[in-house]
Amino acid sequence: MKLELWFEFASTYSYPAVMRIGAAATQARVEVEWKAFLLGPIFQQLGWNDSPFNLQPAKGRYMWRDLERICAAGGLPFQRPSQFPRNGLLAARVAAAHQDQPWIGQFVERVYRANFAEDRDISQAEVIASCLDGLGLPSADVLTTATSAAAKQRLREQTDEAVEKGIFGAPSFWADGELFWGNDRLEQAIAAARGWPALAQLPRSEPPRAIEAIEADTRQIGFDMASDRATGELLRALVASKPDGRILEIGTGTGLATAWLADGMNDRGALLSIDSDPAVVEVARRHLGNDRRITFEVGDGADILGRIEGRFDLIFADAWPGKFSHLEEALGLLARGGLYVIDDLLPQPNWPDGHGAKVDALLRDLGSRPGLTISHLDWSTGITIVAKRGSLVPPPYQGGG
Ligand SMILES: C[S@@+](CC[C@H](N)C(=O)[O-])C[C@H]1O[C@@H](n2cnc3c(N)ncnc32)[C@H](O)[C@@H]1O
Repeated sequence: MKLELWFEFASTYSYPAVMRIGAAATQARVEVEWKAFLLGPIFQQLGWNDSPFNLQPAKGRYMWRDLERICAAGGLPFQRPSQFPRNGLLAARVAAAHQDQPWIGQFVERVYRANFAEDRDISQAEVIASCLDGLGLPSADVLTTATSAAAKQRLREQTDEAVEKGIFGAPSFWADGELFWGNDRLEQAIAAARGWPALAQLPRSEPPRAIEAIEADTRQIGFDMASDRATGELLRALVASKPDGRILEIGTGTGLATAWLADGMNDRGALLSIDSDPAVVEVARRHLGNDRRITFEVGDGADILGRIEGRFDLIFADAWPGKFSHLEEALGLLARGGLYVIDDLLPQPNWPDGHGAKVDALLRDLGSRPGLTISHLDWSTGITIVAKRGSLVPPPYQGGG
């Protein structure tokens, strides 16, 4: 599953798109192809000798304020460049000549940050060199390659390809034979790359009211273990099938899944959410603390699981305890007919060495337990749903003293 990102280094709205596409595409397991091109020749064909944001001052004023708001909401550093548009020719040649290199995404991000967060002149070779040096790359060699006749030709051809594809602005995305224009079309483009255009366009239930604000605060504090909306939507539907349900979340984080779980509950439902980190729970409390159905408890899940009373109709296990430790205790808290939901089970780039083996062992352990019905879903980060049919019997004796 591939998604082409067409970007121009001077383009303002390409900055937020470039900074968020990596995480969004990784989560959706879509591969990004980084396609640098030049907007100048395209604008010239339209009869413009400058950016439309300079040619139309009202549009320009709006764009700068809009970009400021987008960056603030996404927790991105922003400083309006003292010169606009900056000449991104050299950076574009580097990017086009090295677009298949594993470092291409990080290089592109660094150049955008230099221009839009640090107000550095990206037309200067030393600025581009510093972006390469920062990645531990041989900047002199890379710049020599980028200024070769072959590299210049490559960028010209890539710009021609952009024109052929009907591209008229940046950022643009090309997915599943279709063009998507603008930073705010990224999600639609990712859905198309995954072959889901119809699904993405289907009407769906409104997200929880607090979700956008929690997402913004989550980015702001740099919390990178948050659940995405696809997981949230599934959790909400499962909870909605448990009227008056008692719900347990292990690993509150900033409260994203908490908001979706609560949104699926009726007025008589109750949700206990536990986490060991008070700093992240503070975000969840700020947005959801007024919901009297929700109780937040801060402490080590390992201790809390041992002293919780009663049974739960749905448990979302999203922390170490309840997944890779204390599974027995956590499953013991599940009511008959209850659902145990675990996420983050498909390989992810930030997994430490050996984590895949732990996931494998967990899934095999669950599969070996009688009384459980299991379904593994290739959804979001990889989700397993376990339904408890009867009473739990310990797993078969494995030998030993
Ligand atoms: C994957 S995040 C949770 C994400 C959250 N459910 C969401 O929807 O965005 C895992 C959380 O587990 C918490 N955690 C890690 N070890 C823990 C432990 N021993 N007990 C309780 N919480 C723990 C971390 O502080 C972190 O917030």
